[in-house]
Amino acid sequence: MIRINLTHVVILVACFLVSSSLEEAPTLLFQGFNWESWNKQGGLYNSLVGSIDDLAAAGVTHIWLPPPSQSADSQGYLPGRLYDLNASKYGNQQQLKSLIQSFKNKGIKVVADIVVNHRTGEKKDGSGNYCIFEGGTTDDRLDWDPSLICGNDDYCTGTTGNPDTGEPFPGAPDIDHLNPRVQNELSDWMNWLKTEIGFDGWRFDFVRGYAPSITKVYMTKTAPDFAVGEFWSELSDRNEIMNWVQESGGGSLTAFDFTTKFILQAAVEGELGRLIDPNGKPPGLIGISPANAVTFIDNHDTGSTQNKSPFPSDKVMQGYAYILTHPGIPSMFYDHFFNWGLKDQLTKLSGVRARNAITATSQVRILASEAELYVAAIDERIIVKIGPKMDLGNLIPENFQLATSGEKYAVWEKKP
Ligand SMILES: *[C@@H]1O[C@H](CO)[C@@H](O)[C@H](O)[C@H]1NC(C)=O
Repeated sequence: MIRINLTHVVILVACFLVSSSLEEAPTLLFQGFNWESWNKQGGLYNSLVGSIDDLAAAGVTHIWLPPPSQSADSQGYLPGRLYDLNASKYGNQQQLKSLIQSFKNKGIKVVADIVVNHRTGEKKDGSGNYCIFEGGTTDDRLDWDPSLICGNDDYCTGTTGNPDTGEPFPGAPDIDHLNPRVQNELSDWMNWLKTEIGFDGWRFDFVRGYAPSITKVYMTKTAPDFAVGEFWSELSDRNEIMNWVQESGGGSLTAFDFTTKFILQAAVEGELGRLIDPNGKPPGLIGISPANAVTFIDNHDTGSTQNKSPFPSDKVMQGYAYILTHPGIPSMFYDHFFNWGLKDQLTKLSGVRARNAITATSQVRILASEAELYVAAIDERIIVKIGPKMDLGNLIPENFQLATSGEKYAVWEKKP
């Protein structure tokens, strides 16, 4: 029989408190939905409650939820009554608040998907298009008319706002973000999402739709704990993404590392030599601005049922072995964790990252980068290998031991 007395319990608790205060968990974002989550039995918000322990065990520090407001589409990317969180297919305001509180109780922060480039009108204007907006409150907050739509908008006619500062969005009116009323009322709404609903940070949708100076306004007026912009770069030009971050205020602002995604998903197809740049660094945004890079394998657009530019499905774990050992802020996608049976492998990789204190700004030393093999040491504490080549020569020093491995990837850490 094992007897546990109070002294043992006190010592255990004390050890736990000391160890958890010494190491802060490395930031890890989880995308908590896919393109079909609006259809989830019982609602996405309710269903996620049952997964919080698994996500916490996987080292998730931030969860990205879908756009919460009433929307013309099921997924939430054509929002209209921004304050109305009861008409979402994902669940209602009360369920969302309770989900957020449950995440917070486990130390996980919650990121809202902010779709403000465009907005869907509630009523038709004289031209017969939906260009009159309602905010979803009993007063006139966010109740806008076409004077707050970009003057050159291609969806509504008779608009008198400033010209669009970014790319046009075809399916809905583009909002005039240079208008002070727009800036103030959208910031007030985002601050309400923080104080009333409990969100901690933002994922800015389609930031190519307005100038970086506009993102800077919302960053300044809402001071999020964490923020990431979707600057989708077809050319996957990392300098373009870095410039966007800098012009949008820099600081805590980050951007999705589309460059790493596109190079990595090509590299794992027998071109691993592409994973080094002319300076000997990683070729993605993480090679030039790692603190501002959120790495990912797929999301609701590139993967899921939209599948616009999916990572090769049989090589997804090689991709995760790379991003979960490298600098930048790694993220995990709902489908891979919940639907593809990769939860245990992802949890192990994330555990190696955490216990070796790998962070967004860790140092990479690339040891091999050839067609069939990529090997890198990170902070001289862990070594990662991806690719089919089995013969590693003497690349792994004697004082390293295997930490975790899977098909065509392995990670070693220093022996204690
Ligand atoms: C949504 O429901 C909550 C109650 O859960 C209520 O407080 C809030 O006013 C509702 N919002 C709208 C826009 O109806």
